[in-house]
Amino acid sequence: VQRTLVLVKPDGVARGNVGEVLRRIEAKGYTLVALELRQADEALLAEHYAEHAGKPFVRPLIEFMSSGPLVAAVVEGQRVVEGFRSLAGATDPTTAAPGTIRGDLARDWGAQVIENVVHGSDSPQSAAREIALWFPAL
Ligand code: GTP
Ligand code: MG
Repeated sequence: VQRTLVLVKPDGVARGNVGEVLRRIEAKGYTLVALELRQADEALLAEHYAEHAGKPFVRPLIEFMSSGPLVAAVVEGQRVVEGFRSLAGATDPTTAAPGTIRGDLARDWGAQVIENVVHGSDSPQSAAREIALWFPAL
């Protein structure tokens, strides 16, 4: 079966959304394989966001992601990469559909970077790379 890396970003932790995000993952029938509250350092985040290197939002993105604790999880299930992206909704919280995590829990706060509560790997290849980065022991 497939695995994906889910992050509850610092905005989601600060606003108390951890339980709600995990509830939706479990309600869908996916399985938690690893779960950790941690403070991510800039080196880890630069690796995590390597695909965005050079884009104008990557510096504020890394600052935001290291601004407080986040929750990292490995989630397992049939087609979970696609399935969690569907639960999360569109990147932009203003247009993310109601019923999705971002549509229900996030909005535009006028911050430098889009604050959208969760991250989910965008392909099985990204998931393998990200899981190895965040949970090398798995
Ligand atoms: P993740 O699951 O977090 O990776 O979101 P995504 O796959 O929907 O978006 P993407 O990987 O393209 O971008 C990663 C993160 O960078 C987003 O979730 C946003 O927090 C931020 N971001 C993406 N695009 C923009 C942008 O155009 N402007 C700003 N300010 N932030 C962006
Ligand atoms: Mg992405």
